[in-house]
Amino acid sequence: MKRRDFLGYTGLGALGVATSTVLGGCSEEQPAVKFWQQGNFRPVSEEVTVTDLKVEGSIPPELNGLYVRNGTNSSSGISEHFFGGDGMIHGVRLEGGQASWYRNRYVDTPVYRKESSGFGGPNPEHSTSAVSLLYHGGELMSLGEFGYPYLIDPDDLSTRGVFNYEGKLTGNMTAHPRIDPATGELLFFGYNVVQPYITYMRADAAGNMLQVEPVDMTGPSMVHDFAVTENYVVFMEMPVRFSWFMAISGSGLPFKWDEDAPSRFGVMPRTGTNADVKWFDVPRCFIFHIMNSFEQGDEVIVDAARYDHLWVKNSHDFFHPARLSRFSMNMKTGKASVQRVHDQAMEFPQVNRAYWTRDYRYGYSLAVDEKNDSPERIAQAEGGIRKYDLKTGEVDAYLPGPALNPGEAIFIPGSESGGAEDDGYLASFVYDKNSETSAFCLFDATDVSAGPIAKVALPVRVPVGFHGVWVPDSALG
Ligand SMILES: [Fe+2]
Repeated sequence: MKRRDFLGYTGLGALGVATSTVLGGCSEEQPAVKFWQQGNFRPVSEEVTVTDLKVEGSIPPELNGLYVRNGTNSSSGISEHFFGGDGMIHGVRLEGGQASWYRNRYVDTPVYRKESSGFGGPNPEHSTSAVSLLYHGGELMSLGEFGYPYLIDPDDLSTRGVFNYEGKLTGNMTAHPRIDPATGELLFFGYNVVQPYITYMRADAAGNMLQVEPVDMTGPSMVHDFAVTENYVVFMEMPVRFSWFMAISGSGLPFKWDEDAPSRFGVMPRTGTNADVKWFDVPRCFIFHIMNSFEQGDEVIVDAARYDHLWVKNSHDFFHPARLSRFSMNMKTGKASVQRVHDQAMEFPQVNRAYWTRDYRYGYSLAVDEKNDSPERIAQAEGGIRKYDLKTGEVDAYLPGPALNPGEAIFIPGSESGGAEDDGYLASFVYDKNSETSAFCLFDATDVSAGPIAKVALPVRVPVGFHGVWVPDSALG
């Protein structure tokens, strides 16, 4: 979000203060090198449709549907922060062993149309909608860090307008809702920098809102994700906090590390209220993303990408790697513990979503370059895809070296009738630094290190982005 938008909350705008003047002399926090304007972080300048796509290897013919991924892509070419660009959706449609099209389309928001200056302000329609995608209740939705979802047409990725659950979504919606695979229920929340800091919500499988519940926190934290088990939801309150100082004088996002803020998980029954939340203090950390969560006896288990710290100086500091860690909250004793699951740097954890909320064996993540210690380095970082066997501790990895850089790997079930947990494929856009183009790649989830089983070369670059979803034709109807 941009600083000027948050000034709407302060009343400074109402005082007639020209925010660009206020902010003009305070740019000492701007990084000398903006990594998000280099390498494959750079935005692309065109929306394209490509239908003449060749498949190298083979796409399993039973995979019929749409893979779509969201990410930031500044339409002006410049943004104040890595997260600050307009939403752009990249999609590949698979049919009968072929890739019938690739498209990239902006999410058509008032921000993209330049009718609003950014996201995170009081109007939830004014989102960049740049973070993730959700298919639920028969609708494909683009989600942002803040604001309402935007409906996306799966046939051509055009934007159909905002969606607010018939007016029952009154504020922000997270980019990381969870669907209960048994009931189809959607569990989600929104966070805000003014109270209520968290609003918890549930919708039924058809998309009808069932519950809207304010939840207390001690202050306005950044809350990017949350966890769901069969009986509970888990909120995170972590030390990356909204900062008035950063909103007025800093650059990038108005959030930074607050050494005095708590690190804690709040566990609440899925149909409960704020009064039912049990908070568990954990060693100081920050978490963007949760891999999965489930119950085991008296314990609520949350597996997550854990940062020791983040954004200590300002929100441009991404150079501390996250490690896969398991948090255990004992509902009887009130005690929590954390243990590291794997030592190597990772992010963008994923699972077979049929195992969301349930005990599981396999997780997937991006491998993150351990040498990401500077803006210069991050733009050239090496990456890969890892598969974790959480029962045996074994790790399988696709580490293609410096020339190829995969994005988030989404699990696509190989069978709709419920095969083994890892019976399926991983879908990812892989960037080739030499050709400056990307490919849509499918991996066999049982043999990730073997590399792609299918590669669809694209004539364009798919910039580094965020989160995607697989929508099978059987769901689209
Ligand atoms: Fe995310």
